[in-house]
Amino acid sequence: MQITSFFVALALAVSSVSGLPTAAVNGRGIFDGTVGATDDLLIFDSPGFPDPANPGNTLISLQTFVSLRQVDLGLVTKAITEAISALGVEVGDSLNILQGRIKLIGAIGLPGKSTTVTVPGCTEPAAKSGSTSGSDLGMSLKTVSLGQCASNVKEFTATSSFGGFLNDRTSQATVFNSPNSGFGVISDIDDTIKISNVLDTVALIKSTLLEAPKPVAGMPELYGKLAQSLNQPQFVYVTGSPFQLYPFLNDFIDTTYSASKGPIFAQNLTIVDPVEAIKFVSNGNTEGFKNAQIDRLRVMYLNKKWLAIGDSTQKDPEVYGASFKRHGDAIACSWIRRVEGANNTDERFAAAFAGVPANKFRIYTDADIPSLANINVAAGEC
Ligand SMILES: *[C@@H]1O[C@H](CO)[C@@H](O)[C@H](O)[C@H]1NC(C)=O
Ligand SMILES: *[C@@H]1O[C@H](CO)[C@@H](O)[C@H](O)[C@H]1NC(C)=O
Repeated sequence: MQITSFFVALALAVSSVSGLPTAAVNGRGIFDGTVGATDDLLIFDSPGFPDPANPGNTLISLQTFVSLRQVDLGLVTKAITEAISALGVEVGDSLNILQGRIKLIGAIGLPGKSTTVTVPGCTEPAAKSGSTSGSDLGMSLKTVSLGQCASNVKEFTATSSFGGFLNDRTSQATVFNSPNSGFGVISDIDDTIKISNVLDTVALIKSTLLEAPKPVAGMPELYGKLAQSLNQPQFVYVTGSPFQLYPFLNDFIDTTYSASKGPIFAQNLTIVDPVEAIKFVSNGNTEGFKNAQIDRLRVMYLNKKWLAIGDSTQKDPEVYGASFKRHGDAIACSWIRRVEGANNTDERFAAAFAGVPANKFRIYTDADIPSLANINVAAGEC
């Protein structure tokens, strides 16, 4: 029984790469400090952008997380089941869903590891990620250059092979490459495009750990239309959720928002307790993080204009209003979903958008969603 479940877990976590040279053969992966057989590697989907110092070169903002490979989720499952049960939530028949969602919550980050990421058509090694400092706790965020090889490609796959002899594995991510012009869409996730019930802890635990994710009705269609009307904008999902939920959110966007895929910027938090992770989704200080991510996007794409979409449960109105004040017309338009139970008072929106022209933001209800597609944001409407 033990052995069977061991192999099942491996089959889920590992993709075989027969055909590619193994790390042992090409010399990578055999030195101390590189990601190896006892590690897990997550590469986040990344934005690609033109190098301001050398147009024609493509840069990517590459984030990776290296952790100790976990084969047995039994202990962390037990801890989580007990913790949420104390809050009145029973796992019931959602054990498989739960185990898929919590993999990273119990993950032990490994500092000081590096990995080589390759991109088809680009000379190897295209990009080195990771850190040799012992204090990064496994999370690395670096800007790396791909050189001239990728400048005209809109979407490409970044791959890292690791694991070594007898046990080669790969981790992959998509790079969303976009020019420094045109439009982008900055979007929140929880309660903007996905029903998370951030304002209700029990419902939030269920939607985050136990249930199939549900989109906010009409939003996948709206985003599909924005992908056309804004001429293939760069969609970037900026969420206050901890990165431990990234695989779940990424799958949701890939499947439910397949016409508007893009990188997800999630918070870097060292959370090992699932209930803390959930509480973080509802109470965390998302404001500072989100403002910093919008500033980061402005550095990558100084000449892009952005449509910013969020909701009234947390601090999106305050973040988008403050971002307009810092970046002016680059934040071309903000749309805020009015969520029942949140602070939807006129005073709140007036304070959040003080100094922002009234034709640069809009508070919408669910009934308004279909008509948002008719607003010609590309022509300056909002
Ligand atoms: C992530 O958080 C850890 C712990 O606070 C820190 O050591 C690390 O530098 C952070 N990494 C990034 C990329 O922000
Ligand atoms: C709503 O937000 C405004 C502005 O921040 C604040 O003054 C007011 O007290 C808030 N109301 C509630 C019910 O929280």
